[in-house]
Amino acid sequence: MYKISTLNKISPAGLARFTDAYEIADGTNGIDGSAGVLVRSQAMHDMKFDESLLSIARAGAGVNNIPLESCADRGIVVFNTPGANANAVKELVVGALVLAARNLDKAIAWTNAFAGNESDNIGKEVEKGKSKFAGSELKGKTISVFGLGAIGILVCNAAVDLGMNVIGYDPYIGVPSALRLDASVKIEAKPEVALAKSDYVSLHLPSLPSTNGMFNAELLSNIKPGAIFLNFSRDKLIDESAMIDALESGKVSKYITDFATNGIIGREDVVCMPHLGASTEEAEDNCAMMAAEEIMDYLENGNIKNSVNFPTVNLGPIGNQTRVAIITKNEPYPVKLAAAMFADKNITAIAGATRGEYGYALLATDDNIAEIPKVPEVLRVRVLTTD
Ligand SMILES: NC(=O)c1ccc[n+]([C@@H]2O[C@H](COP(=O)([O-])OP(=O)(O)OC[C@H]3O[C@@H](n4cnc5c(N)ncnc54)[C@H](O)[C@@H]3O)[C@@H](O)[C@H]2O)c1
Repeated sequence: MYKISTLNKISPAGLARFTDAYEIADGTNGIDGSAGVLVRSQAMHDMKFDESLLSIARAGAGVNNIPLESCADRGIVVFNTPGANANAVKELVVGALVLAARNLDKAIAWTNAFAGNESDNIGKEVEKGKSKFAGSELKGKTISVFGLGAIGILVCNAAVDLGMNVIGYDPYIGVPSALRLDASVKIEAKPEVALAKSDYVSLHLPSLPSTNGMFNAELLSNIKPGAIFLNFSRDKLIDESAMIDALESGKVSKYITDFATNGIIGREDVVCMPHLGASTEEAEDNCAMMAAEEIMDYLENGNIKNSVNFPTVNLGPIGNQTRVAIITKNEPYPVKLAAAMFADKNITAIAGATRGEYGYALLATDDNIAEIPKVPEVLRVRVLTTD
């Protein structure tokens, strides 16, 4: 029986994926004895992990609440659920584009200010103010999308459907992602050029040491005057004082963000949402189901898919084999090492890979594994059987 602890509220649809081989516990008061943890946004950096912890799955995309490297050093595989909430974020971005183009935030506030007015002609009176909120259409405008992953691709394709000219910026885009992009999306290699051409900018790149503060005064100075800037990715990507300067100078006419900070809340030129991007029933179900399946596949079969600190390795379902899962550090050839460690066994399948300095090898055998050789490069070994 594996114990799985939940931090945050995890969708029942995800918890229902776990079979009778799992005990689900609320981890708010401690996660000791757990083989897996399901988490959403709770910060785990200061948490203590005991030896039983094998895996953490983040029901969502961003993993900056999890100490990835110290987990890797302890042989704890961390998963996320790429793409599971992408449609939810895309739909909110489409909503934000329409909101910005048609001044909906101000127009709705204007209308609501008439609450309690007893006039028989309220409709006409409200309508008298409408010229102040006259907007523009999205069709024919240019948007640049920074980050062409699960969300960015959907945003690009939705913007194409809205009749917009779409520029994509992502120096690391892979072939599978590129193939999912509408053919009309123009890839731009220079962020400053994308900004200079765009009426709208939408960020969909991760918060990393290399991207935090990327939208600083220098880069923002290239933006087309009056552009509308959408950030449904992470607040850290933006140098906030540079954004405020850009708003005050009119370089950016409106900043729509999913992340509240003291500096921007309440500004006339900012629309700030309470991190609503993935807050749909469907996204929460999708993320939790994917997270549960990733943990079960790892614990039962040894397969790693969608990990953020270990490579993808998949031998399919375990069947009636014995499997040995080997986590390594500073070993460029984990498969060779695993084969050498169990050279006296009848190995029926083997796979493995590295990710940075960490590696993983999974081998299948018909033999019993009674002893595990000690090797300095090996951080953790698990023997899996279906018994
Ligand atoms: N508002 C919300 O509720 C919400 C919900 C989900 C995700 N997010 C945020 O959205 C981000 C993107 O999510 P996703 O699912 O599309 O992730 P993803 O990993 O599928 O895509 C991220 C893309 O960014 C690209 N990238 C990395 N560094 C870059 C750089 N310097 N310049 C341009 N592109 C770069 C990557 O190559 C990748 O294609 C997440 O990291 C998260 O911070 C927010």
